[in-house]
Amino acid sequence: MEKKKLLSGIQPSGTIHLGNYFGAIKQFVDLQDKYDSFVFIADLHAITTIQDGKALSENILNVALDYLACGLDPKKVCLFKQSDLTDVTELAWYFNCITTMPYLERATAYKDAHMKAKEINVGLFDYPILMAADILIQDSDVVPVGADQKQHVEYARDTALKFNKIYGETFKLPEPLIMKNVAIVPGIDGRKMSKSYKNTIPLFGTYEEIKKAVMRIVTDSKEAKDPKDPDTCNIFALHKLFLDKDKLEELQDKYTKGGLSYKESKEMLYEEIINLIKPMRERREEYAKDLDKVREILNEGAKKAKAIASLKMKIIRNKVGVNI
Ligand code: TRP
Repeated sequence: MEKKKLLSGIQPSGTIHLGNYFGAIKQFVDLQDKYDSFVFIADLHAITTIQDGKALSENILNVALDYLACGLDPKKVCLFKQSDLTDVTELAWYFNCITTMPYLERATAYKDAHMKAKEINVGLFDYPILMAADILIQDSDVVPVGADQKQHVEYARDTALKFNKIYGETFKLPEPLIMKNVAIVPGIDGRKMSKSYKNTIPLFGTYEEIKKAVMRIVTDSKEAKDPKDPDTCNIFALHKLFLDKDKLEELQDKYTKGGLSYKESKEMLYEEIINLIKPMRERREEYAKDLDKVREILNEGAKKAKAIASLKMKIIRNKVGVNI
């Protein structure tokens, strides 16, 4: 049986953290054998917030390095950069013309930005439509995303339905793939780990930076001897990402019995993090020595993704009527 097609994008918005890894990247790595996988760097989306050319191009290369370091295998995954597929922006335009403003005004991301009284650019407002184009141009079956991006996949489905209704059957409907147990990774303050909350643990920071972030995890003021509640402990919540069932139960016992200090729990967590990232850091250093190789991987990926997109665009242009 032919493999289903998976597609997902990640914004090149600076250094990646544990939340990105457990919330997204790890899924791509785990799924790369099961699906025909396409993963891209959403640089066009990033321009809605990053308007510093030098920073953007550095971020793009960095995110490519991060992905390769985390275990994405370019032999299995088509890794490319969104802006290499100019067809996507053309398709987004066709979608724009069948999308109403009130419909986009209902997007949570837009509403959040609006509530914060930020000046919202048209690109940000239109974000879900560009994303719909990313997804639909490749005939994607599944889109692994964090829970916060689920609505965007719904926008892609709605847009496909609308286009199909107006122009006839053209797009298949993608499914969001949300992994329940990894959907939300808590940050060091217990809220969702997110750069905007400044509560992240960096994946490829220096060991000192990682240690510092771990040591800053917010706890209550119970002393070592006191029994502690694992269910409300931010450190414990992070241990869950690393420990198997037995080890986790062992730790849970130590929490409820008392005798383990938060500091010790943090030190254990630090070790768990380091064990995970050590081989990744080594791989990252290897790739960083050969950036031309990374560029080559992205170019090869773009070629493959472009070939699919341009076939699809022929059909779309015929339907829209711009072919004469
Ligand atoms: N909006 C996604 C994010 O910020 C990135 C993204 C852009 C994406 N286009 C996509 C994800 C298409 C999945 C499919 O995380």
